[in-house]
Amino acid sequence: MKSIRELDIEGKKILIRVDFNVPMDDTGSITDDIRIRMVLPTIKYALEKNARVVLCSHMGRPKGKKVAEFSLAPVAEALAAMLGKPVAMAPDCIGPEVEAVVDRMQDGDIVLLENLRFHEGEQANDPEFARGLAALVDVYVNDAFAVSHRAHASVEAVTAHFAIKSAGFLLEKEMDYFHRSMDEPVRPLVAIIGGAKVSSKLGALENMLDRVDRLLIGGAMANTFLKSQGYAVGASKVEDELLDDASRMLVKAREKGVKVYLPVDVIAADRFAPDAVSKQVTVQDIPDGWMALDIGPATVLLFTEALSDAKTIVWNGPMGAFEMDAFAMGTMALARVVGSSHALSITGGGDSNAAVKQSGEAGNITYMSTGGGAFLELMEGKTLPGVAALEAG
Ligand code: 3PG
Repeated sequence: MKSIRELDIEGKKILIRVDFNVPMDDTGSITDDIRIRMVLPTIKYALEKNARVVLCSHMGRPKGKKVAEFSLAPVAEALAAMLGKPVAMAPDCIGPEVEAVVDRMQDGDIVLLENLRFHEGEQANDPEFARGLAALVDVYVNDAFAVSHRAHASVEAVTAHFAIKSAGFLLEKEMDYFHRSMDEPVRPLVAIIGGAKVSSKLGALENMLDRVDRLLIGGAMANTFLKSQGYAVGASKVEDELLDDASRMLVKAREKGVKVYLPVDVIAADRFAPDAVSKQVTVQDIPDGWMALDIGPATVLLFTEALSDAKTIVWNGPMGAFEMDAFAMGTMALARVVGSSHALSITGGGDSNAAVKQSGEAGNITYMSTGGGAFLELMEGKTLPGVAALEAG
């Protein structure tokens, strides 16, 4: 993957694929602008080089239709405020009108194209749609790590049209941190995996077993592992169809010498609600009809011990239903442990990052990835199509 630093972009029209798929509230206000702030270095660099900067992104899943609520216009405003200069909003992302807008640009100007997913061609990786995008500019830069696991036109097909293409600073940084933590980690390397479903993390768990020294499993997905070991987990969320996979993975871990840590106690509740009746119980004592909604204090101690000499920590997925105060203790405590550790620590995924922020530990984590699905695919050991397309030369 080339770096943008290696490209001659002086006075050139440059298309930068970014991921401005940011959360918004009902009033259209951006509730978390981290994905915008993280690409500022690339945008500023291109502007300093007097490039004509054309940004493109998707927003939400409008399924090939023009849907007003998924317009990128609010992002153009936010970006203009951050840069302290106007950001023109294009009426669309391809076609004669957009070409005219780009042709009128001066060196150092910046234009944001309208949502790529207003066209079906984007998600279909359509070569014609890609051609329309490529026709706008001279140079292509991918700085959209969070969508680089999608073989979409602006991420993959478009690259075929450019001899001059590279990664932006964010994509480089994301890949670099991941490489440092998973490919060449300083050991012990400990992975913490949580969240609701084993099914969505099966590939990541398998791959982790080939790489980590210790694996800590929490969140609702731990119930499936506990049940596979014969514990009665009451009415807890369990994926019964994955019990065999869970057992098999535990056997594989033993064979590979990977130490797996499962909860030894949980906060069990009589229902899934913020005001549920709840109590701390060992995993042997989850009452019939009750469900585990957080790890308990003994598990926090166990996990703390398992992390105590870690040199590298990779974390994806919360330890419980942390969005409800009654079940946030485990995830918050773990965030504090990771935050105060001297290890290189990396978190990824919307829930984990939200939890880290809620805990006040964001400043103490070495790197919080902007990727959800993309981060998980790296954890699965996959090559991201967006990265492969840049490496294809
Ligand atoms: C994300 O938020 O994970 C990326 O922007 C990708 O969005 P998608 O899951 O709709 O492709």
